[in-house]
Amino acid sequence: MDNKHMADEVKMSVKNLDLYYGQKQALKNINMDIHRNAITALIGPSGCGKSTFLKTLNRMNDLIDNVRITGQVTLDGEDIFDRNMDVTMLRKRVGMVFQQPNPFPMSVYDNIAYGPRVHGIKNKAKLDEIVEESLRGAAIWDEVKDNLKKSALRLSGGQQQRICIARALATKPEVILMDEPTSALDPISTTKIEDLMEELKRQYTVVVVTHNMQQAVRVSDYTAFFLVGDMVEYGETKELFTYPKDKRTEDYITGRFG
Ligand SMILES: Nc1ncnc2c1ncn2[C@@H]1O[C@H](COP(=O)(O)OP(=O)(O)OP(=O)(O)O)[C@@H](O)[C@H]1O
Ligand SMILES: [Mg+2]
Repeated sequence: MDNKHMADEVKMSVKNLDLYYGQKQALKNINMDIHRNAITALIGPSGCGKSTFLKTLNRMNDLIDNVRITGQVTLDGEDIFDRNMDVTMLRKRVGMVFQQPNPFPMSVYDNIAYGPRVHGIKNKAKLDEIVEESLRGAAIWDEVKDNLKKSALRLSGGQQQRICIARALATKPEVILMDEPTSALDPISTTKIEDLMEELKRQYTVVVVTHNMQQAVRVSDYTAFFLVGDMVEYGETKELFTYPKDKRTEDYITGRFG
């Protein structure tokens, strides 16, 4: 693995991570450094643990019964499983965008202002500013600026997904987790989200699950290949797709299985 950016600029670090759903082990000894201001793609066949891994990074798995996790995950060196870690604050710092666009059944404005309001911001001018900045950040401002009172549910799927990205930006996260953010979208919306991801990495650290290997190649700096709970290979995207070190990675990226 090329050590150019590897040594420094680690935003999140995962060490010896095991995760069990009841008796079933879904993640096996995962070790991985996630780089700041970079896009990291997680690829692998269905059921290999990509979403499970992603949800571990902001402790969304805490919401599921019967989950047992061992090992360490740090955010800027802080242990996210530490009992002093405020989980609400963690999820503010590590935001998430899901596969199906899931705007709240309320206006565009209220969708974006929701998080900041929960975190105590009441000032109208301040909220207006956050709403505009977040919608601009998600490349949807021009499409909705004249209709901020309109229900977000009346937008197209691609627009809804950008609203969800804006909603994630509104709480000023440091890391953005995206679970197959474009799999429900048409090609034009997909291109918009991919372009947006390029923009986002200037300010944020992005981790994205994708089934689309061309997408991983197009947008990501680093790629991790998962297979039945193991992280088989991790490295710079160009490297991994050009010279995979593991036969299983090679078979997967050349379409021989999965
Ligand atoms: N809440 C849960 N309870 C029990 N088992 C689960 C739960 N969620 C996921 N699993 C199991 O853990 C394994 C990993 O699932 P996960 O959803 O992380 O896979 P994935 O790589 O995201 O797959 P896909 O590409 O289909 O989204 C699977 O075997 C799945 O059945
Ligand atoms: Mg998944």
